[in-house]
Amino acid sequence: MNNYLKIFISEKFKKPGKALDLGAGEFFDVACLQQLGWKCEGVDIKTGVDLEKIYKSKNKPFDLIYSNYLLHKLKNKKSFIQTIYDNLKNGGWFFIHTFDQSDQNNKSDLSQVYLQKLLAGQEFNNVKIKLFSYYDNEKNHKHWHKILEASGQKNKNSSK
Ligand SMILES: C[S@@+](CC[C@H](N)C(=O)[O-])C[C@H]1O[C@@H](n2cnc3c(N)ncnc32)[C@H](O)[C@@H]1O
Repeated sequence: MNNYLKIFISEKFKKPGKALDLGAGEFFDVACLQQLGWKCEGVDIKTGVDLEKIYKSKNKPFDLIYSNYLLHKLKNKKSFIQTIYDNLKNGGWFFIHTFDQSDQNNKSDLSQVYLQKLLAGQEFNNVKIKLFSYYDNEKNHKHWHKILEASGQKNKNSSK
């Protein structure tokens, strides 16, 4: 499981809840969360959900919505942020990992400022964005990545 996500969950949640994985890939993180006692839904283009468009889950609202290494690929980033907002419980948390524009191995137009601007379009609290380097040590990879991490909480007082 994405170790940063694991740490984030242990800091923010005392007990398992309901989670949504946007761009779940091989559903590895979904399976790990389920083992930890979470009810977890994963969606991906490979399972028929195109996140270029707003997605509304029949299982909403969620306590946690996370997405690892999808956002930099999307053209319609605004719809993606709207999807997070629409499916999150008031007081629920989101967690995003994506590649920064300075990553050598990925096409990305994302920067901290751009991500901040995208998130400012919705009523989120406690938004934190950080940029850090990560060495991918997997076979046939062996290179550095520039990762943007964003987290925040849906506004508890929102009337939306
Ligand atoms: C780099 S993989 C990351 C998978 C997983 N989140 C992980 O961390 O291992 C990106 C995933 O995004 C999915 N994806 C790409 N474009 C998408 C779209 N428009 N809508 C939904 N999923 C998409 C791909 O199918 C792929 O599974």
